[in-house]
Amino acid sequence: MPSLNSQWLQSLLDPFFMMKSAIYHYVRILILEIFEGNVPLSAAQWQKIRDSAFSFFWLQYSGEREKGKKIAPSKNTPSASAALIPQLLSQATGTVLEIGPGSGTCMQFLQGSQITQIYGAEPCIGLHRQLRSEASRYKMQDRYHVLNASANVGSLTHELIRKEEITSFEAGDTLFDTIICVRVLCSVPDPKETVSGLYGLLRPGGQMLICEHVSNPWRTSKGSIISRIFQGLYMLLGWAYFMGDCRLDQDTERILLGTADEDKGWGNIDLEVEEQWSLFPCLHGSLTKKR
Ligand SMILES: C[S@@+](CC[C@H](N)C(=O)[O-])C[C@H]1O[C@@H](n2cnc3c(N)ncnc32)[C@H](O)[C@@H]1O
Repeated sequence: MPSLNSQWLQSLLDPFFMMKSAIYHYVRILILEIFEGNVPLSAAQWQKIRDSAFSFFWLQYSGEREKGKKIAPSKNTPSASAALIPQLLSQATGTVLEIGPGSGTCMQFLQGSQITQIYGAEPCIGLHRQLRSEASRYKMQDRYHVLNASANVGSLTHELIRKEEITSFEAGDTLFDTIICVRVLCSVPDPKETVSGLYGLLRPGGQMLICEHVSNPWRTSKGSIISRIFQGLYMLLGWAYFMGDCRLDQDTERILLGTADEDKGWGNIDLEVEEQWSLFPCLHGSLTKKR
């Protein structure tokens, strides 16, 4: 772990500024809804407000990040992973599934020539327009299909059938050569079940490409107990509620490797964790399914 340097201190504060921006959008949407006479009473109405506020936040955050501006003071937001993503995503080939593509900021790193079809499973409808516009910007509109689906097998296959991309689906069918998970497994409701389902959809020899912020490994020599405490603190302050269910304290590596134990197993595992001292340690690399 580096000494108490400004980069590390700033990284502890980043989530505060991100949350401030997310809460601003939440309150703004809530007030607008109430003024329009849509006082939220049911859980579904509150969820709609959360989804809408998160899409405004994410569009602003990812847009400003792309322009080099920052909502948070340091570069050690989850966007520290930005340096790792281009090389990682250049490995995507064949029929690709991108889980939670958000506003499509990763699209620029895909090598269109080696991709046959790509499906972006994005449950936040407020992000679909931007996603389609990015597909056109990177000349993939003929191959990029936006799915109004979440990361579970039922939702994905239902949407693929609805869009006539597949005619039917039976348990055991494999559909994808590459599955991309960038900054998304922290947000899925049941990550273990999700990873197991995605593993099942991967063709033998296919790859899962991973770039995820994870729980600080504070028990190891490179980890930081203070970063881990701050992760817990932000979670207590409502990070997940305002940030689309994102969990700062999830051990995604254990989930990914555990899935392999229960199923047929990974043929090759090439995962590393960068910035283990940080509030956003970054798990990145690939997992290849046995042939
Ligand atoms: C932090 S954003 C990351 C977006 C994009 N992958 C990136 O790195 O720029 C997380 C995305 O995952 C999506 N998401 C949340 N829960 C999901 C789920 N259960 N299935 C699929 N996507 C989900 C969110 O709507 C959001 O677009």
